[in-house]
Amino acid sequence: MSLSAKVEGNTAQSSGAGQSYKDTDIYKCYKRSPYSSIKHSSYFHAYEDLFSSYRGRDITFVEVGILNGGSLFMWREFFGPKARIIGLDFNPAAKRWEQDGFEIHIGDQAKPEFWQELFAKIGNVDILLDDGGHTFEQQIVTVCEALPHVRDGGLIAVEDTHTSYFKDFGYPTPYSFIEWTKVIVDNINSRFPGINQPFSKLPYKDSVFSLHFYESIVGFKIRRDICVPSHPVSNGAPTRQHEDFRNKDSLIGTVEERSNALSRRLAFLRNMPFLWRTLSAAKRVTVTAVGRYYYKARLRRLRHLF
Ligand SMILES: C[S@@+](CC[C@H](N)C(=O)[O-])C[C@H]1O[C@@H](n2cnc3c(N)ncnc32)[C@H](O)[C@@H]1O
Repeated sequence: MSLSAKVEGNTAQSSGAGQSYKDTDIYKCYKRSPYSSIKHSSYFHAYEDLFSSYRGRDITFVEVGILNGGSLFMWREFFGPKARIIGLDFNPAAKRWEQDGFEIHIGDQAKPEFWQELFAKIGNVDILLDDGGHTFEQQIVTVCEALPHVRDGGLIAVEDTHTSYFKDFGYPTPYSFIEWTKVIVDNINSRFPGINQPFSKLPYKDSVFSLHFYESIVGFKIRRDICVPSHPVSNGAPTRQHEDFRNKDSLIGTVEERSNALSRRLAFLRNMPFLWRTLSAAKRVTVTAVGRYYYKARLRRLRHLF
């Protein structure tokens, strides 16, 4: 929770036509926590979406940022008795929560050394939730350092990502947390085999399967086992050879049609392989150049949607 947030009163507010956040199981656990915790109303739906499938399982859950301890109790009740709940904080007073059966570690989440020492002690984890200091450096270092230690099928969730839009945190800047997540999107898409150049030097295409954006929360799902380059697949069923209409009635479609018609008319030149190859190459270059020009030109029509 960021310091600037105002705490809501007791009115049950529905998040639209659907279920109120107050009806979620995680909110009920939150309300039963014996110690204080401040959250945003939208978080409860996001938590359920991200974390429900881990309930009742033998998982290791880490929360960065403990403050008054309230969220540790919420997580313990939500995940159940088999879950190992670990809390991290910069404030040594957080050690107090060991009396309640939580594992507590003290350190600065912005320091890579802290994470290296931590994982050497606690081993790999299933879920890491960052509700620490919320600066971009803390958030980015936390994800980078934790990622190699999150098990396949696990996830990282970073909370209070609205700070990416706060002037006090440095907005506007290309180095905000949300800007950084766009680089991860590029990383994920660089698994597509038709893309020959790397989009970024970050090594996450082999571990981050998907990103999930909620209001103020971003989830990173880790699945190294299925982060592999894709390839075209066919279901093998019979085809009706329908014409592909994607360029119908467009400049590029007309160029394609006319150049195909010309190729058919000049088909007798197939007997002269050198000439035929030269003509075919000229056709390919022309169609590609016109296509690139055409698609770029059309993009201007989308400006109002950005
Ligand atoms: C928003 S509070 C956590 C609230 C708690 N998760 C809850 O829901 O009740 C943020 C906590 O992060 C801790 N924190 C701030 N900067 C930190 C850092 N660099 N490393 C580790 N913890 C930090 C603070 O000491 C504070 O306890």
